Amino acid sequence: MIKDLVAKNRSYRRFFQDVTISNDTLLELIELARLTATGANIQSLNYKLINKSKKNEEFFSCLGWAGYLADWKGPEDGEKPTAYIIILNDNRIKQNPQYDVGLACQSILLGAVEKGLGGCMFGSVNREQLREYLTLPKEYDITLVIALGKPKEEIVIDEVVDGNIKYWRDDKQVHHVPKRKLEDLLL
Ligand SMILES: Cc1cc2nc3c(=O)[nH]c(=O)nc-3n(C[C@H](O)[C@H](O)[C@H](O)COP(=O)(O)O)c2cc1C
Repeated sequence: MIKDLVAKNRSYRRFFQDVTISNDTLLELIELARLTATGANIQSLNYKLINKSKKNEEFFSCLGWAGYLADWKGPEDGEKPTAYIIILNDNRIKQNPQYDVGLACQSILLGAVEKGLGGCMFGSVNREQLREYLTLPKEYDITLVIALGKPKEEIVIDEVVDGNIKYWRDDKQVHHVPKRKLEDLLL
């Protein structure tokens, strides 16, 4: 059911680091992005796939983790992502790819969840540093980064109370994500 898949597709930030993700699996996820809509069918997005431990460390250091969790600097060793997908935009073809990037991201993450994996998309990226690691030509802009792995955390959806939309973690390290009520979305 699509609802189950969407509900399970949370932003996972802690993983079983001993569970690796193969190139073939990453390619299956990119195939979903390939089939996804783009404005005017322009298809300006390209992808870098990373799933080797040494590179993983470099990419990890470029990401800003969970801004609302002030005391948490990101997953510890043993709980880090095991693969990354960097979504690049060919700026010779399109200048404002944000909608296309969002759709591609969602397809990839839904596909990951269907495979028993999960991930988180990152807008908070040290793009200068990442560009160096990737040795990217200037025609390619770094848009979002997706971190992937086998999720090792429980995430629950709560109702928004008093307008507070900030996610938080309880004593048992369960991650809570407040969502607005259906009736509050309709104008
Ligand atoms: C465009 C976009 C950028 C995001 N960037 C980050 C980020 O840089 N770091 C991070 O930890 N989470 C990031 N997230 C994840 C959001 O924090 C997350 O979607 C939100 O807290 C709701 O949780 P949910 O995805 O489980 O519904 C991003 C999400 C989106 C849609």
